[in-house]
Amino acid sequence: MANARALNGKIAVVTGAAQGLGRAIAARFVHEGAAVLLSDINDKKGQSAADTLEASGGRVAYVHCDVSKPEETAALMQAAVEIFGGLDIAVANAAVLDLTDFLEITPEDWERVLSVNLSGFFYTGQAAAREMVDRGTPGAIINMSSVNAVVAIPNAVAYGACKGGVQQLTKTMAIALAKHGIRVNAIGPGTIATEMAMQIAQDPAALRKIRQRTPMDRMGEPAEIASIAVFLASDQSSYVTGETIYADGGRLGLNYMMDVADQ
Ligand SMILES: NC(=O)c1ccc[n+]([C@@H]2O[C@H](COP(=O)([O-])OP(=O)(O)OC[C@H]3O[C@@H](n4cnc5c(N)ncnc54)[C@H](O)[C@@H]3O)[C@@H](O)[C@H]2O)c1
Repeated sequence: MANARALNGKIAVVTGAAQGLGRAIAARFVHEGAAVLLSDINDKKGQSAADTLEASGGRVAYVHCDVSKPEETAALMQAAVEIFGGLDIAVANAAVLDLTDFLEITPEDWERVLSVNLSGFFYTGQAAAREMVDRGTPGAIINMSSVNAVVAIPNAVAYGACKGGVQQLTKTMAIALAKHGIRVNAIGPGTIATEMAMQIAQDPAALRKIRQRTPMDRMGEPAEIASIAVFLASDQSSYVTGETIYADGGRLGLNYMMDVADQ
């Protein structure tokens, strides 16, 4: 079948694409026929990810973008237009994890996390939407949320507050942008095997706790999140907006602690 790839001819931007979920999403988008502009603050890893995808035959480029700086997110979207000729899809994915106890968090730590994990999502989404509206493009914006939007980890205070904010930001953007034909949705992963998650899961006791809270008894793989991003970016989800799709191995459905062995 001709043009069977879900994102054929589309132009996408992914933030935080040097590794982890962003990199997996960029790779899957390329596989589905999109031209992809990867961005990150880790230029060495980001450029290397783009080079690998280009070597596999993809239309890709890399630019530096610190999402906590609105002038850089605006420049990122303009770069997509300059390099590839448009902008159809934006994935706000870049985030940081801070594991400081509630009583110890400094105002500087709090502000640093919010500037990336909440303001950065707003700046990315607004810059993308402005470019899409200016160009009359019926686009798709995807925010990377988390199960931490609705359940809490005691020492991921700012992180959880931001993910709760991203959920409401997603709904608000969806309603504000519907009249422009732009859909805005979020993905809420459970624990997915990336460098970020391994900050916690490398401790065997922590991994056991994660599995105890995960009926499917395993961490997810980045590719299992990337496939949801393809769905939300493509016309397959043409009537879906303002939603968060949770991919968590059943975690949010579990209302009491059970041992892995009991499952
Ligand atoms: N891995 C998980 O278990 C998990 C679960 C739920 C949600 N998430 C979310 O998925 C997204 C990706 O997470 P990941 O696990 O791939 O993390 P990761 O730490 O492996 O990758 C994050 C990337 O973002 C980049 N980054 C950090 N600060 C940035 C900034 N200011 N501007 C631009 N880029 C920046 C990093 O350099 C890195 O390449 C995040 O939004 C995270 O909150 C991850």
